[in-house]
Amino acid sequence: MSGPRSAKDFFRPLAVGAPTPLTEIPARPSRAIHFFDPSNPKMAAKIPDMVGTVDVLLGNLEDAIKADNKVAAREGLVQIARQTEGLGGPAAKTQLWTRINSLDSPWVLDDLTTLIPAIGDRLDVVMVPKVQGAEDIHYVDRLLAQLEAKAGLTRPILVHAILETARGVANVEEICGASPRMQGVSLGPADLAADRRMKTTRVGGGHPGYLVRGDRDVDNPDAPRPSYQQDLWHYTIARMVDACAMHGIYPYYGPFGDIADVVACEDQFRNAFLLGCVGTWSLHPKQIAIANRVFSPSVEDVAHARRVVAAMGDGTGAVMLDGKMEDDASLKQCLVMVELAEQLAA
Ligand code: GLV
Ligand code: MG
Repeated sequence: MSGPRSAKDFFRPLAVGAPTPLTEIPARPSRAIHFFDPSNPKMAAKIPDMVGTVDVLLGNLEDAIKADNKVAAREGLVQIARQTEGLGGPAAKTQLWTRINSLDSPWVLDDLTTLIPAIGDRLDVVMVPKVQGAEDIHYVDRLLAQLEAKAGLTRPILVHAILETARGVANVEEICGASPRMQGVSLGPADLAADRRMKTTRVGGGHPGYLVRGDRDVDNPDAPRPSYQQDLWHYTIARMVDACAMHGIYPYYGPFGDIADVVACEDQFRNAFLLGCVGTWSLHPKQIAIANRVFSPSVEDVAHARRVVAAMGDGTGAVMLDGKMEDDASLKQCLVMVELAEQLAA
């Protein structure tokens, strides 16, 4: 069955330095990637208690961190990684990711040259913002290879790209396949909206003006008509999901900025899950619970999927179940659900 490729596909020799034996990186669930500001001591103090409650903790160095705090954020992340039990590395309960500054910023080189020697053994994934094309991934790939070799690391650090420029969207297929380090891609709706000159002023989610209205009643032109808000992000998410599936890496929603609107947040996350995304970002602890719920298949869906798998026997032909036709193709969908449930339970 196709799907996210197995961890051993991430294995490859480092490009620079003496050959280093790399260990396999297990594909681990990452339903919620929870962002924190490592330069904020209050947030940093909460991190140890969050280990084990969320799949990924991400120390953010890019947007939302003031220019004056970039150094403090880097140093804070190093401290947190060193002091927090169970965070990052092969045996971690919660993965440790970072979002570095963009490749056209004055900070990114210092981000990587500080973090990899200091905590490269704990960092699971480096999230790269504003990726425009394969060349950006190649650049980070080479830098990581050099820094890993210099630090004697035995496990490659994976790369995650944020899709947040029109050019990045146009190049999403080549970005996904640019390196065996590619772990996944997230939608970056805020920067993408600006880059595309969309007329929104929010971080992710829908817009009340983006709607389709029901037909007018010719006999009663003044009667109220239903209207349905549409999903601003459907095209980009669908395109990202296809590109990720094509290259066997993981697609993610991204930020949902209206923290108070848990209903719309859940709807947006669920749309992304149904379209094929495996997770999303969390900007507030209450979004972790939403993401964990939404990006885990429901007990009912998994039970149904198992019934189809059992009914399909050797996996060929067609059977009727509850009045519905099931065949090889519906079996494959059910296997996706069962595999995800097993991966989450492991
Ligand atoms: C995230 O970085 C975004 O721009 O939405
Ligand atoms: Mg952004």
